[in-house]
Amino acid sequence: MLLNFHDYRAQARKRLPRFLFDYIDRGAEDETAPRQHRADLDALRFRPDMLTGHATRDLSVVVFNKQLPFPLIVAPTALAGLVLHNGEIALARGAETLSLPYCVSTQAITSIEAIRAGAPEADLWFQLYVWKNREQMRSLLQRVAGCGIDTLVVTADTPVLPNREYNLRNGLTTPLQPSFRVALDLALHPRWSLQVLTTYLRQGGLPQLGNYPPAFRTRVGRAAMAADFTIDHCLSWRDIAELRRAWSGRLLVKGILTVNNAEQAFREGADGIVVSTHGARNLDSVVSTARALPPIADAVGDKLTLLADSCIQRGSDVIKYLALGARAVMLGRAPLWGLTAGGQKGAEAMLTLLGREIDLTLALLGREALSDLEGCIDKEDGGDANPRSNCSLAARSALEQV
Ligand SMILES: Cc1cc2nc3c(=O)[nH]c(=O)nc-3n(C[C@H](O)[C@H](O)[C@H](O)COP(=O)(O)O)c2cc1C
Repeated sequence: MLLNFHDYRAQARKRLPRFLFDYIDRGAEDETAPRQHRADLDALRFRPDMLTGHATRDLSVVVFNKQLPFPLIVAPTALAGLVLHNGEIALARGAETLSLPYCVSTQAITSIEAIRAGAPEADLWFQLYVWKNREQMRSLLQRVAGCGIDTLVVTADTPVLPNREYNLRNGLTTPLQPSFRVALDLALHPRWSLQVLTTYLRQGGLPQLGNYPPAFRTRVGRAAMAADFTIDHCLSWRDIAELRRAWSGRLLVKGILTVNNAEQAFREGADGIVVSTHGARNLDSVVSTARALPPIADAVGDKLTLLADSCIQRGSDVIKYLALGARAVMLGRAPLWGLTAGGQKGAEAMLTLLGREIDLTLALLGREALSDLEGCIDKEDGGDANPRSNCSLAARSALEQV
C-alpha cells in the first residue's frame, strides 16, 4: 500500500536501477545537508488552536495572479524522462490535471516543444541553466517563449557540478562506462530496462537531452557535453540583469539563501525567488531552507514572490515552509517517486496525497485557510504583535534550539 512519501520512495528503490534511484534520492559528499534539513523541519513544532469550528479548509494560494488548488509546484528535475519513458510529458499532464504549475528543466530528456504538445493546457514554467554559449541560450529562450511559457526560473546554485561520489561508484558517468556493475544493475531491474531503456533504444538510441540543439545534443551517458553547453561557471548578477532585459515574462532566481542575495534579486528586477538548496544535493554544509527562509521573508516577503523547497516529505513540511514565509513550495523528488509508481496517475496520486496531508494538518491546527498560519509554530516569547515576523521569530527561536 502506498500511503505516504516513504512508501512511494521505497517502491522506487525497488523499481529503479540503483544508479538512477541514488541520483534522485541522495545528497552530495557526506550527505549532512539532507539530514540537517530533516532535523530542522522536524524541530519546528506546531501550536494548534482548539474549537475553531471550520467545516472545510481553503488550501488554495495565489501565485503570480493564478489560483492554485494546493501550494505545490512541480520542481525542475533533470533526466525525469529516465524515470519513465516520456516522463516529463507524464509530469506535465499530471500537473495539468491538478491545475498546478510544472517547471521543466533545461536538462529534460524530452524537448520543451514535445512537452508542450503533450500537455497543451499545462501551466509550464522553464528552468534555465545558463549555457556558456549565450547565443545558443538566447535561441533556447526563444523556443521556450514560442511554447507560450512566460515564467523563467534561473538556477543560481550550480556553478559547478556537485560532488556526488555514488554516481561514479554506480557507473552514472559521462561518458557511460560499460561495466559489470551497470549490467548487473540493469539485469536486476528488468521492468525499468524493458519499459524505459528498451523503448528509448527502439526509438533510435540512448535518451538525449531534448532541449539541447540537435547538432550538439548529448546522448545521455555517451559523450561529454560540448563545452558551449556546459553550465557557465562564471554566472554573475550581471547575467541576471541581462536576462531581465532579454526576458519579458516573469523571472525567478532559484537557489537564494541569504538576505543580501534576495535583496539583490529584487534590485535586478526578479519577480520572485526560490529559497532552495537544490534538494540538499549540492553544497553539503549548506544552511537548511528552514533556517534560511525566515530572515529572507522578513526582508523581501512583501516585494517578491517567495517559493521554497528541499526535503519536503509531508504536508506538514509544506505548512512549515509556508508559515516561515513561502507563498508555495516546489517538489522535486516526491513527483518522481509518484511517476515511478504509476506514471502520470502515480505523480498525481503523490501530489494529491500531499494535498490531503496539508488539509489534515491545517484542520488539526484549527485553521481555515493557508493564508491564516500566523503564530501556528511553537515559540517561546508568546507575543502576537506582528504576524509575519512572529512566524519568522517563532521559527527562528525554535531552530536555534536544534
Ligand atoms: C533528480 C533531481 C534532478 C534535479 N534537477 C534539477 C535541474 O535540472 N535544475 C534545477 O534547478 N534543479 C534541479 N533539481 C532540484 C529541484 O528543482 C528542487 O530544488 C529539489 O529537488 C527540491 O527538493 P526535494 O527533491 O527534496 O523536493 C533536481 C532535483 C532532483 C532530485
